[in-house]
Amino acid sequence: MRRYVQHSEHILIFECDNVKLLFAVAAEIGAAQGGGTELLNLLRIMVLCLLGSAANLRAQPADVDGEKEIERYRAMINDPMANPGYLAVDRGEVLWAMARGGKNVSLEKCDLGAGPGVLDGVAAHLPRYFADADQVMDLEQRLLHCMRTLQGLDTKDVIARRFGSPGKTSDMEDLVAFIGNKSLGMKYQASLSHPKEREMANIGEAMFYRRSAINDFACATCHGDDGRRIRLQALPDLSKPGATAREVMASWPAYRVSQSQTRTMQHRLWDCYRQMRMPAPDYASEGITALTMYLAKLGDGATINVPSIKR
Ligand code: HEC
Repeated sequence: MRRYVQHSEHILIFECDNVKLLFAVAAEIGAAQGGGTELLNLLRIMVLCLLGSAANLRAQPADVDGEKEIERYRAMINDPMANPGYLAVDRGEVLWAMARGGKNVSLEKCDLGAGPGVLDGVAAHLPRYFADADQVMDLEQRLLHCMRTLQGLDTKDVIARRFGSPGKTSDMEDLVAFIGNKSLGMKYQASLSHPKEREMANIGEAMFYRRSAINDFACATCHGDDGRRIRLQALPDLSKPGATAREVMASWPAYRVSQSQTRTMQHRLWDCYRQMRMPAPDYASEGITALTMYLAKLGDGATINVPSIKR
């Protein structure tokens, strides 16, 4: 058993005594990202592992149980002490208190549903209906609303940096990680008492089953049944409430090891639309909130684990 820690601008920690698994992971990332720094980093680590583990390898049985190895990999990356998602949490805390915009004030008076400035537990009830905007909003939409109305901030740049990349952080991913983390360990309770909230959940459900684009895919094509998988990835069944849906709903934002970034549900759904060969959905659009509301309904009762760490 070996542990290689690479400290660069993004921290990568891999424990490895199984080269097969790392090859698979590197190939996955290569396919998903079209190469890039992450792949190079991984290849570097792979070479280290190859050199370091040659002796171990000879001692290993020839037929390694693939499923068990994937489980082991998941357990390895699920270590909160090694979760770089907490770097995003810390950056988000700074951003929350930073005076910005035409009015040069911080976000500290932003009302995320429990009154101005209240952070504890708010993520456990989002998305929700906000009377001042007469709209159901998820956390991203609400933060953009506060930036515009409270801070007088032109959000063009914030939206341009909505998804972070190596060397370029995203204010939104950082803020959502910080605020989400304030509900760590709490029960997620979907807000469904307002008619507009129920309407959004229904629209989200319709979108989940609607087939379209060149592949005629719906979300349900990949997420409509137990036990489906693409390559190494198990596809969660998001067609019914239960443990799987709860775990999914309660685990975003997540630090994505394969992308070296902390991602929010906005990015996850954007990425699934990309996989469906659909046009990219608008950031913080009503459609994404409707889908999130549908998932929220399924995930009701989950214990919030944010930021989690995922492949
Ligand atoms: C072509 C197959 C495909 C389609 C269609 C698809 N997804 Fe996904 N989805 C994936 C894959 C692959 C993952 C990542 C699984 C992993 O990394 O373990 C994923 C992950 C997710 C996750 C996160 C799961 C987790 O473990 O936290 C959510 C939520 C999700 N998809 C929702 C949707 C929604 C909503 C739609 C429709 C807009 C959709 N997906 C359409 C393939 C698909």
